[in-house]
Amino acid sequence: MRISERIETAITHAIAGGQASAAPAKLSAALGYAVTPGGARIRPTILTSVAMACGDPHPKLTDAAGAALELLHSASLVHDDLPCFDDAELRRGKPALHRAFSEPIAVLTGDSLIIMAFQILARAAQHNPTAAIALIDVLSTRSGMPYGICAGQGWESEEVIDLSAYHQSKTGALFIAATQMGALCAGQDAEPWTELGARIGEAFQVADDLRDALCDEDTLGKPAGQDDLHGRPNAVAQLGVRGAVARFDDILAGAISSIPACPGEAALAQMVRAYADRLVPAIAREKPTVPGE
Ligand code: IPE
Ligand code: IPE
Ligand code: MG
Ligand code: MG
Repeated sequence: MRISERIETAITHAIAGGQASAAPAKLSAALGYAVTPGGARIRPTILTSVAMACGDPHPKLTDAAGAALELLHSASLVHDDLPCFDDAELRRGKPALHRAFSEPIAVLTGDSLIIMAFQILARAAQHNPTAAIALIDVLSTRSGMPYGICAGQGWESEEVIDLSAYHQSKTGALFIAATQMGALCAGQDAEPWTELGARIGEAFQVADDLRDALCDEDTLGKPAGQDDLHGRPNAVAQLGVRGAVARFDDILAGAISSIPACPGEAALAQMVRAYADRLVPAIAREKPTVPGE
């Protein structure tokens, strides 16, 4: 089965588990709305690719871990769009969940998906109990305080933002989770895979800044120009478009050279490159039309 099919099947299975007929209908429907159709599924794709590069000895564990990671990410987006955070109208080309349902349902959907993510990992202990405990540890570390998404979102309530800590925890954390969880699913030590996740996360943030500055809402499927609008520090404001592209290429090269030795090292490098190509909008690599850019 292709990686994308494995991921979709595992997510569908997980969501169906939370939709028994006796459950409240709106919240039940909202669970599906939050995860389908998905976005790029980049985090579970990286997780599965790392596991496969290391032999993928327990594919059911890998699929469970990929689904858990994507549910956690999707939950973070549902909460991020709420009026008390970014007050976004659009997500993945559809009305944000609180707009399609309601704010209480959006809060509960995010909560339910987070809980479901950890339940999936607890149940995956049947495949490899030691790995499942380590997976729970990694996912909680990279989603909570002090290094996870909660910390990242928490920085937005501070008067002075530590930009590097903000980006590392808001965006980088789940990419570190992706590479570390992939390694754990294959029975490997997680630590050597931290650098790859961190570097992919950093490159992703630069690409996200480029997309936010250069693409429109229709292309993004979510509001554009948000960094400028909210006065957020970002790579395009700091380095210009060309500088940001050069920075992206530098970080990517570092990411690829940090891949630990493993049987599928070459295929993994190729997958990282192929995904990276899609992250930077083509217009960012075109010849500059503005002098000085
Ligand atoms: C969006 O992540 C949130 C950020 C960390 C910038 P993605 O761009 O991976 O979102 P989807 O899952 O593809 O919609
Ligand atoms: C969302 O960050 C990332 C989370 C940790 C939820 P942003 O607010 O910068 O991303 P988008 O633009 O809404 O996807
Ligand atoms: Mg936000
Ligand atoms: Mg947002």
